[in-house]
Amino acid sequence: MYRYDNGSLFCEQVNLEEIARSVGTPCYVYSSRSILNAWRAYDEAFGDIPHVVCYAVKANSSLAVLSMLAKAGSGFDIVSGGELFRVLKAGGDPARVVFSGVGKTATEIEAALRSGIRNFNCESEGELNEIDSVAGKLGVTAQFSLRVNPDVDAVTHPYISTGLRDHKFGIDIAAASDVYRRTRSLSNVRASGVSCHIGSQILDYSPILEAAGKVLNLIESLQAEGLPIDHVDLGGGLGIAYQPGDEAPGIRDFITDMRERIGRARLTVMIEPGRSIAGPAGVLLTRVLYRKKSPAKEFIVVDAAMNDLIRPALYKAHHEIRPLRQTEGKTVIADVVGPVCETGDFLARDREMADVQPDDWLAVSSAGAYGFVQASNYNSRPRGAEVLVEDDKWRVIRTRETYEDLIHGETM
Ligand code: LLP
Repeated sequence: MYRYDNGSLFCEQVNLEEIARSVGTPCYVYSSRSILNAWRAYDEAFGDIPHVVCYAVKANSSLAVLSMLAKAGSGFDIVSGGELFRVLKAGGDPARVVFSGVGKTATEIEAALRSGIRNFNCESEGELNEIDSVAGKLGVTAQFSLRVNPDVDAVTHPYISTGLRDHKFGIDIAAASDVYRRTRSLSNVRASGVSCHIGSQILDYSPILEAAGKVLNLIESLQAEGLPIDHVDLGGGLGIAYQPGDEAPGIRDFITDMRERIGRARLTVMIEPGRSIAGPAGVLLTRVLYRKKSPAKEFIVVDAAMNDLIRPALYKAHHEIRPLRQTEGKTVIADVVGPVCETGDFLARDREMADVQPDDWLAVSSAGAYGFVQASNYNSRPRGAEVLVEDDKWRVIRTRETYEDLIHGETM
């Protein structure tokens, strides 16, 4: 959805300079068409298999994005009471919500049960007992899946790999059958599925297929024992192309391959994609403040920093950076850095960049997922605005924070 037209970078039919000029920077911009196309690619690829595409809210939890997906019929994967609150505010259907995460509190469990979510993806027996006890108090039955840890290497950044035996996530797949058996003694929970999520930014999806194979075998044996398992939750994880040379797997190819694995098993399939829906849809707009040269390096100092987009600092992640107005000719090798007082505050290192000058605008690509949601007020920097583009229209969906916002709730 992003392309140059007559030398200017556009999102759908909107010239990004218009947004930068009017809203200021740093500013996140999202293409609604890109988000909806990706969600529909999942939804349509399942064809006649009963399924729910549960968008992983953590990737981009803006109300406008959630509301757009809710209208398209999306389900939601949440990991906190705050995400549940957002989904409900945005008009999401609780009956299409699954609740994941290793540390759900009793308060969060109660809110989820009261709102009538579909399913808990449980990560420990302790949590299962807690859900049983809260459900008992409320006089309801909670449906759950165990999130199993299949001991499959997702081959991604170690911080976002989750499916190995020494990770904190899930219940060892070898122990899962026993846990399911023991849950028969709990009267307020009902086993309804098995879930699995082995990691994020997975470019070669064969480990996800391998994990799904193990999960499907487990389901078969649980069903043979008479447990009422009627769904499989495949988690999220499909990666996107961040840099030249990355080959993003096709959503349709992935689901087609998955369908072959699922075959004739009569199961509802849930999937929890986040990044592959929101990631490519967004850019972070920033303005060049200064150019600076040290004996060893060139720097492009911009007004966005690690507090706006922490992925480069945290995971050494690569995000392409392009000028809003295309330049020809000279390029420089430079670090693109923000104003935060840390050497780790960079958006790019030793990057071949257009020879941009102060007041030029840049777009940091693939920033629609795990961008704004991971932003902070570090260095007392107000978080930037968010804008949603739809065809030739755009609107601010979150205003830039003010200094007053920074001290909200504080006393001396
Ligand atoms: N389901 C569960 C249980 C998850 O933990 C996650 C992501 C997802 C679904 C969605 O995965 P996706 O489709 O987006 O890969 N902050 C990191 C990413 C952390 C992902 C955490 N879990 C980053 O910026 O790369």
